[in-house]
Amino acid sequence: MDFAAPEPIRAVLYHFVEHGVLGYEFPTRELRETVAARMQTLYGWQVSPDAVVATPGVVAGFTLAANAVCAAGQGLLIQPPVYPPFLKVNGSAGLVRQEAPLVLETDGNTLRYSVDFDIFQKAVHSDGAKTGMFLFCNPHNPTGQIYTKDDLARIADICLKNNIFICSDEIHSEILLGGTQHIPIAALDPEIADHTITLIAPSKLLIFQACSADLRSSQIRICSNAIRRRSSAWQCTSAVPDWWRRKLHFRVRAMDGWQHCDLI
Ligand SMILES: Cc1ncc(COP(=O)(O)O)c(C=O)c1O
Repeated sequence: MDFAAPEPIRAVLYHFVEHGVLGYEFPTRELRETVAARMQTLYGWQVSPDAVVATPGVVAGFTLAANAVCAAGQGLLIQPPVYPPFLKVNGSAGLVRQEAPLVLETDGNTLRYSVDFDIFQKAVHSDGAKTGMFLFCNPHNPTGQIYTKDDLARIADICLKNNIFICSDEIHSEILLGGTQHIPIAALDPEIADHTITLIAPSKLLIFQACSADLRSSQIRICSNAIRRRSSAWQCTSAVPDWWRRKLHFRVRAMDGWQHCDLI
C-alpha cells in the first residue's frame, strides 16, 4: 500500500493547510450525501444520508457498535483468523468472545478459507453467553475471503433468527481482485439492514490511512433507524468523545476529495 494518495485527496489537503484555519469541524450534510450516493452507485444500495455518521476510525467503530447494541456480559462473535483488533473488542466492551473459525480448504494449489455453517451456528450463544453482536469482516482480512450472496444470506439468517446484531467492517470493499464484486451484507434486505451497522472508509482505497492519526479520512458508519433508536449513544457523532470529534476535522476535509476520485 505504499503508493501516493490520488491527486483529489492531496489537493483538498493542500488547500486546507493553505487556508490555515485548522480548528474544529464536523461532518457535513454533503459528506453524508456523498457516502449515500456512492453506495447507490456501487451496489444499488439505497442509504439515507441521515443514517450516515462519522467515527474517528473503523476500529473505534467496533467498540462503539458493541456498546450500542450489546448488554454487558453478552457474547461477541468473530471469525478467526481475523484482523487482530477484532480480538480486543470483547475486552473493551465487557463482552464474552465467541469464535467461529473459518475453515482452510485446499483446491489444487489454491488455499481458501470458507465458513463452516455448523461451526458458525454452534458458536452462537456459546460459552454461557447470549450472542449480542457478530463482528463481521467483509471482505475478510487477512484471508482475503470474498463472501458469496448465499454465504451472506445464510450468515444474516442465523443472526436474525438469533436476534444478533451485525457490525460489518467493509473497509476493504473497494479493493478487489479480478472481476469480483463486493456485496454489503446490509444491502441484501431491509430487515438485515435494520440489524446491521456497516463500517466503511475511503482510507484504504485512496491510501491515506497513515497520514497520522489526525490526518486520515473520516470513517463512516451506516446504521438503521432501529439501531439508532435503540441506543441514544449511537444517534450521531455524540457517541464519540468530544476530544475525538475535534480530531475529525482533517478527516472530513480528506473526504471532500473522495467524491472526485473515480469509481473503479
Ligand atoms: C479489516 C480492517 N479493519 C479496519 C482497519 C483499520 O481501520 P481504521 O484505521 O480506520 O481504524 C484495518 C487496517 O488494516 C483493517 O484491515
